[in-house]
Parts: sequence; C-alpha cells; structure tokens
Amino acid sequence: MKTQICSNAQAAAKLTADIIARELRANPRLVLGLATGRTMEGVYRELVRLHAKEKLDFSRCKTFNLDEYVGLPSGDSQSYHFFMKERLFSRVNINLRSMHLPDGMSPDLDAECAAYEKKIKDAGGIDLQILGIGQNGHLGFNEPHSDFAARTHVQTLSLATRTQNAPLFPDPDAMPRRAITMGVGTIMEARQCLLLATGREKAGMVARAFQGPVTNSIPASVAQRHPRFTVILDADAAAEINSPAAAAA
Ligand code: GLP
Repeated sequence: MKTQICSNAQAAAKLTADIIARELRANPRLVLGLATGRTMEGVYRELVRLHAKEKLDFSRCKTFNLDEYVGLPSGDSQSYHFFMKERLFSRVNINLRSMHLPDGMSPDLDAECAAYEKKIKDAGGIDLQILGIGQNGHLGFNEPHSDFAARTHVQTLSLATRTQNAPLFPDPDAMPRRAITMGVGTIMEARQCLLLATGREKAGMVARAFQGPVTNSIPASVAQRHPRFTVILDADAAAEINSPAAAAA
C-alpha cells in the first residue's frame, strides 16, 4: 500500500483525477470502478475539465459503480445513478451502454447482484477501482464486520452510515436502509485501487484503517493486503497518521 498526502482537498482530488486520466490514456478500453460521495465531487469536476480542455476520451472505457441504494429509482436525485449522471456521465463522451450501476429497483435483488458480478467478469475485471471511505471504515457499502470474501450483495446499512448520509436527503427519514454493494472480495480483485479521503473528520479512521491491524471491523483496512493500492489524503485526513512514509504531492 502506498500513501500520498496532498496539501488540500482540491490537490488530492486533482491527483486522483490525474492518475485516472493517465491510466485512461494508456488504455482507452480501461474498465474503471467508480465511487460516489461528497469526496468524489472534486475528482469528477477535474475529469470533466480534462475532457473539455484536453480531450480526455471516455468513449471506449467501461465503468462499474461500487454501489446503489435499494428502492431509489435512477431518476431520484439521491440515487447514485443520478449522482453519476449529473457529475460525470452527462458531461463526458462516455457510451451510455458502457456504464453500469447496480439496479436497486430490481424485483429480484439477489439475481441483480449475481448479474452485476457477471457483467464485471465479462468485461475482463476492473482495471482501476476508485474508492472513498466511510467514517466507520466502510468500503463501498461494506459495513464493519463484512466478510472479506463477499461478492456483490445486499447490505443493511449501519446506524453510523445512515447518520453520515441522511443529511444529504431532503427528508433524512427517507434514506434507504439497504443498498447493493460490490463485496470486499469483488473490490480486492481490481488490478489497481485508488482510495481518496479528505477532511479532519476522516483522520481517526484513516489512521486506524491504514496503520492499524487488518480487521473486518474496519473494512477499508483490507487495503493493506492489496498489491497495488494507493491511498490519497489531504493534510486534514492525514492528521493522525504517525510519521507517514508518504510522498508529499
Ligand atoms: C458513501 C458511499 C461510499 C463513500 C462513502 C464516503 O456512503 N457508499 O462509497 O466512499 O460513503 O462518502 P463521503 O465522500 O460523502 O464522505
């Protein structure tokens, strides 16, 4: 695992976007795993800018998002389908048939999870997976005590996650209690992972996840076992890391 610390959140988002752009230029058919959440907004802004100003080409890549709430239609402004369309898909030249998110409205959620796994496999697996981290250490929506071998599945959301995300909903009580998420096992099969964390409120969890023991009570700690995993932090999120063996960027 490698750690890179940037002076602020904007620089950290830019570094993340630059790495994505570099990989996409090297392999225009890249299979890209995507994440949502407030932290990712700056990354997508920068990718949109690179598309507009430097013709970064998304036309041949495929994307797979980590997760989606159960019970929200894609047109719901709180769905991850909506987030991705607003922040990235409608702003770059991606082929709409090449982007994938789990369907949280499927009448058969288990079949949807199995089909999602098959789509990833049929695409040849994920080349580069982008990740955030929840304040409780969740990865995608893999909550504390998730099985490290888990595949895409329906996850009941913890109180901590609901508390973290409910303020984003106009009616916080309307936040779904379940989500479909790639499993930790699915995520760990990505050939390369990039995790971005910013802000002082993530600092304690960042230190525990990436400097403490690997434990499924902190799903993100599994990063330490991946052969090609980069954690990108801003100075605030890195505040509790001890003498980081990290390159300042
Ligand atoms: C959400 C997403 C995660 C994301 C995390 C952090 O619940 N399911 O994939 O990494 O929480 O969100 P934020 O960036 O808003 O802190």
